[in-house]
Amino acid sequence: MTTRKPVPYKDLRGYLKLLEDKGMLVRISSEVNLDGELGAIAYRDLVRDGPALWFDNIKDYPGMPLVANIMYREDQLALALNGDADWANLRDIIHEGMQDRTPSNIVETGPVKEVKIMGEDVDLDMLPTPRWHEEDGGRYIGTTAGFVTKDPLNGNLNMGQYRSMIIDKNTTTVEIMGDWEVGAKPPQASNYGGVGDRNGVVHILENEEKGLPTPCAIVLGMDPLLTLSCGTAVPHDENGHGEYEAAGSWAGRPVDLVKCETNDLMVPANAEIVLEGEIVPYERVNDGPHGESTGFYNQHPSTFMVKIKAITHRKNPISFGLICGRIEDYPRPLMRSNTLLDVLIAKSGLTNIKEVFFPDAGRSGFLIIRAKITSPEQPKQIIDAAYEHMRYRWVIVVDEDCNVRDWNDVLWRIVSSVVPDRDIYRGREYEYRTPHPGSIEFVPPTYGMAFDATFEFKVYEHPRPGVAQPSMKMMEHVASRWKELGLS
Ligand SMILES: Cc1cc2nc3c(=O)[nH]c(=O)nc-3n(C[C@H](O)[C@H](O)[C@H](O)COP(=O)(O)O)c2cc1C
Repeated sequence: MTTRKPVPYKDLRGYLKLLEDKGMLVRISSEVNLDGELGAIAYRDLVRDGPALWFDNIKDYPGMPLVANIMYREDQLALALNGDADWANLRDIIHEGMQDRTPSNIVETGPVKEVKIMGEDVDLDMLPTPRWHEEDGGRYIGTTAGFVTKDPLNGNLNMGQYRSMIIDKNTTTVEIMGDWEVGAKPPQASNYGGVGDRNGVVHILENEEKGLPTPCAIVLGMDPLLTLSCGTAVPHDENGHGEYEAAGSWAGRPVDLVKCETNDLMVPANAEIVLEGEIVPYERVNDGPHGESTGFYNQHPSTFMVKIKAITHRKNPISFGLICGRIEDYPRPLMRSNTLLDVLIAKSGLTNIKEVFFPDAGRSGFLIIRAKITSPEQPKQIIDAAYEHMRYRWVIVVDEDCNVRDWNDVLWRIVSSVVPDRDIYRGREYEYRTPHPGSIEFVPPTYGMAFDATFEFKVYEHPRPGVAQPSMKMMEHVASRWKELGLS
């Protein structure tokens, strides 16, 4: 259990207040429509590194606000995680929370039960749900939602972030990456590395094999730490603790959970809105097109269908959503880099790997691996391990002193250390069929390509001159004086 100082908020509202108090949130009171306009405003704000947005005046939805762009910037994450606005510090906090979970707190009731809408009265149209991209095939209610299910075999709860499109007043999709036609076998759950890292689909298909529906809950408007945990691969620990308990550790306090009205799933008691429902067995529906994190629209003609049986929500609920794209209101590099590092070291035993970085544009498989190289064969060993244990197409290995978040640094190493016929390797064939970006088709396996962009142990015709920049030691020294020098 973590000993971190608790974050100064307990829900989305508390976090939004913090942002607003610090001048990091802008309220938009002019009318904005849900048909592409709201999404485009959020997108333009994202690419300009702008503030969090609170849409107060949504056409046809008086009194129903929606917030966006609240957790993508380093300063926002620092606030959310009660840490320094420094990548390495945030990375360490995330890492610690994954290792050391904080058990959740079960409560009798909570704010999310203030209003209950049951059965026939359910109408998803009551919530302001954007058509985020103009050519989306529908309104996407789940873009930062937590999709909760229970493992039918061991009872573990899982909360994954999977998209949901509204079909009618009480029906949505839930699109879990993969090829899940009726009759598909449950994939083997893995911590990371293949299609099987989506736990939700394992639960659905295990139930479906027995002809059973899968009870589920779609949680909307969670605090940012719960949103972080559901959008990344958080393995269950030996106590069955998963996303809720990782978020509790990051928060420095337990997450309050309350039981659903129509099933026995536990959901965050301080969420804004919960949609309770059931995945209908042997039913598949079309999801999309939807503008995706690959940067393209995609579509899944055979997606799971959810029947919503109840909506519970706070009074004046605040919706929270994101426009998917090459950059998003979600720090995938921060979250995924941590998981990948742990998994790669655990599976390969290569402890000289210091960092695995998954950049923003890395959706179709791009890894930069930073390592301490102490012998000539190590870069190739790392490349082989990456292809053996991960499903990424592009792999770049760099020395320990590389700033993997700085493209200029990474490219400088490729340009100055890679001799193409010696240092570029063809990766192994994919074991899994992977969706081709932008296409609805699943393409046949393909090969990867890896670059050994390390300097150590490379033999050049002329010896490599010294690198013209301050030493690491000197950089650390000036970093320790930074605040005293009046710099931030
Ligand atoms: C913003 C965002 C949207 C996502 N949308 C989807 C999605 O629509 N379908 C999907 O399979 N995975 C999606 N993911 C990835 C999963 O949330 C991620 O793999 C997560 O680990 C799944 O949870 P699980 O490991 O508990 O199954 C998304 C992630 C983020 C951050």
